[in-house]
Amino acid sequence: MTYETLLVEQRGAVTLMTLNRPQALNALNSQVLADLIAAFAAFDADDSQRCAVLTGSEKAFAAGADIKEMSSQSFADMYGVNFFAGYDRVTATRKPWIAAVNGFALGGGCELAMMADFIIAGDNAKFGQPEIKLAVTPGMGGSQRLTRAIGKAKAMEMCLTGRMMDAAEAERSGLVAKVVPAAELVDEAVKTATAIAAMAPLAALACKEMVNAAFETTLQQGVVFERRLFHGLFGTEDQKEGMAAFVEKRAGNWTGK
Ligand code: CAA
Repeated sequence: MTYETLLVEQRGAVTLMTLNRPQALNALNSQVLADLIAAFAAFDADDSQRCAVLTGSEKAFAAGADIKEMSSQSFADMYGVNFFAGYDRVTATRKPWIAAVNGFALGGGCELAMMADFIIAGDNAKFGQPEIKLAVTPGMGGSQRLTRAIGKAKAMEMCLTGRMMDAAEAERSGLVAKVVPAAELVDEAVKTATAIAAMAPLAALACKEMVNAAFETTLQQGVVFERRLFHGLFGTEDQKEGMAAFVEKRAGNWTGK
């Protein structure tokens, strides 16, 4: 499958997706969204693929939603088509995926990165929600996901001033899982994804579901949900294999059953 704005390759069990609109610093227009929806659906449906990495270029992960595409839209246009709602289909991806961010991740670019299960940043990464400078606000979940990731004080400051946060501050603030040299970003992210891809697949799905539940439920409900999923894994062949492999001092051999 080929896409207009996305390069997709499989490296073993890892799907590497690279945003490819260099002339617009990977600004997210409708075509990019259509390509992302199709590529993530294909990844989720492919049994040979266990983890994905979404990256951009060294200069820009994505410099935001496409301002030129949005500039002449009316309220009726935006509300009528529920503009940006298509990204819910990206966040509905069940398998784990990592955003590997070099350069600018601004506006919708920062918001897309935050849709990932976690972010690995190159040391040249710059995150920001500069929409206020265009007389609008975040519209792809930034006010919610940034606040949950880094807390109210910093999220509010970022959204109200539109300033950028560098990679070191993003790591200190909990926005990114780790920072690596920019030139090594993609290899490092694929390495991490390969490690995740080697885990028992149902346990990986369950892990993702239970951590995400922490954002949607009370602590008590979340703990019960976690426990039930944990109990459920004892109905899998891979749990028997994983614990036997530990006792026998060997690597587990997963069936995904
Ligand atoms: N939309 C459309 N085109 C964009 C774009 C965007 N978000 N960001 C960059 N581009 C285009 C530029 O217009 C330019 O195209 P032309 O050569 O045809 O003029 C090309 O990409 C290169 O950009 P610059 O010349 O501006 O590159 P630079 O290195 O001087 O600056 C930058 C880089 C600081 C990232 C700057 O491009 C910039 O500020 N971009 C806009 C960032 C922004 O405001 N993002 C938020 C968008 S709104 C949004 O995302 C809403 C939401 O919540 C989802």
